Amino acid sequence: MNDLFDLSGRTALITGSARGLGHAFAQGLAGAGARVIVNGRNGEQVAQAAEHLRAAGHDARGLVFDVTDETAVDAAFAGLDAQGVEIDILINNAGIQHRTPMVDLALKDWQRVIDTNLTSAFIVGKQAAKRMIARGRGGKIINIGSLTSEAARATVAPYTAAKGGIKMLSRAMAAEWAQFGIQVNTIGPGYIQTDMNTALINNPEFDAWVKASNPAKRWGQPEELMGTAIFLSSRASDYVNGQII
Ligand SMILES: NC(=O)c1ccc[n+]([C@@H]2O[C@H](COP(=O)([O-])OP(=O)(O)OC[C@H]3O[C@@H](n4cnc5c(N)ncnc54)[C@H](OP(=O)(O)O)[C@@H]3O)[C@@H](O)[C@H]2O)c1
Repeated sequence: MNDLFDLSGRTALITGSARGLGHAFAQGLAGAGARVIVNGRNGEQVAQAAEHLRAAGHDARGLVFDVTDETAVDAAFAGLDAQGVEIDILINNAGIQHRTPMVDLALKDWQRVIDTNLTSAFIVGKQAAKRMIARGRGGKIINIGSLTSEAARATVAPYTAAKGGIKMLSRAMAAEWAQFGIQVNTIGPGYIQTDMNTALINNPEFDAWVKASNPAKRWGQPEELMGTAIFLSSRASDYVNGQII
C-alpha cells in the first residue's frame, strides 16, 4: 500500500518553499522519497532551507526566481533542462497577502497580489506542463488556493479573487492536460500558523474568531497539510483531477 504514496525517483519543484506551508510541502514530499527543489526570491533563505532538508537526509537543492517574472521563470526552467533535471511534480505555492479595504486599495497592490497568487501559477505551470507533455510520462501539479477560493471576507479582495481564480485555473489545466497523464488539483488551506498570518495570530479578536468559527476550533499547522500534498503528488491520485481539498 505504501508504494501508492512513494515518491522515490520523482523530482518536485515547490515555489515559495523556503518557509511556511511551502517548506512543509517540501519536507513532506522529500520524506516520501522525492528530490525537492526549494524556491523563493531570497538566495540566502533558499540556500538555508535546502541545507535544512539535506541535513535531515533528503535530496534537496535551491532555485532562486520570482514566480511573477516570466523571463526569470523561463531561464530557471532552461537551466534545469541544461542540467538534465526533469520536474515530475510542481506545487504552485508562492503567495502574498495584502489587507486593505477595497475603496482604499491601490491598483498596483491589486495587481501585485493577482500576479503573485494567480498569474504565477500560469507562468510556472505552463513551463512545467510543456515539459511533462513532451516527456510523455505525465506529472502532478498542485495549485495552492485557500478557503477564500470558496468564501469571502472583508479587506482581502485581490487575494480572494486570485484564490477563486486558482480553483478554476486548476480545472482549466486539468481539462487541457489530463489527457497527457497530468493531474492538476488545488489544496485550499484554512487558517494555518505561518508568517503570512502573524498579524492575525497576534490579534486576540481575530484569534478568538478563528477558534470560534473553525470546526476544529484551532489554527492548523503547516505539517498537517503534508499528507494531502503527498496524496496529490503520488500514484494514489492518478485519476483525481480538478478537485479542491
Ligand atoms: N497560512 C495560511 O493560513 C494560508 C491559508 C490558505 C492559503 N495559504 C496559501 O499558502 C501559500 C503559502 O503561504 P504561507 O502561509 O506559507 O506564507 P508565507 O509564510 O508568507 O510564505 C510565502 C512564501 O512565498 C514566497 N514568495 C512570495 N512571493 C514570491 C515570489 N514572487 N516569487 C517566489 N516566491 C515568493 C515567499 O518567499 P520570499 O518572500 O522569500 O520570496 C515565502 O517562501 C500561499 O499561496 C498562501 O496564499 C496560506
